[in-house]
Amino acid sequence: MVELRVNGHAYELDAPVGRTLAEALRLDLGLTGTKVACGEGHCGACTVQLDGVPVLSCITLLHTVGGREVTTIEGLAEHPLVDAFVRADALQCGFCTPGQIVSAAALVESTPQPTSEEVRHAMSGNLCRCGAYPRIEEAVVAWRG
Ligand code: FES
Ligand code: FES
Repeated sequence: MVELRVNGHAYELDAPVGRTLAEALRLDLGLTGTKVACGEGHCGACTVQLDGVPVLSCITLLHTVGGREVTTIEGLAEHPLVDAFVRADALQCGFCTPGQIVSAAALVESTPQPTSEEVRHAMSGNLCRCGAYPRIEEAVVAWRG
């Protein structure tokens, strides 16, 4: 049994050894905002925050996160970054967007006025196959509107 908190709610999950955090979120808790693309730790689509730090949930085992606080895109629904992405039209297919926003939210928490360079550095692990990088960067730099 693994106890964890997700977006402020406490859960106890009985999952087989080897279950990834991404599988637990999507399949056990129905939090499908977290996307899985590569499934191998290369693209950042599955990014969630673990105690405020971005991690790749597709290569994080559920059994290693007991007692920790997980924040997914569902927990950031009211974050101003969501509007900022819409204003900047910072997406095309949108598949990478949850992971982008989760990473960006951790960045602006520690660096409320990030420069373009800081955005690029902090979000270098979040790939966008649609090439929306300039608008993603614009959205994060201007996230407070
Ligand atoms: S799906 Fe996790 S890094 Fe690509
Ligand atoms: S908007 Fe399509 S992968 Fe980023």
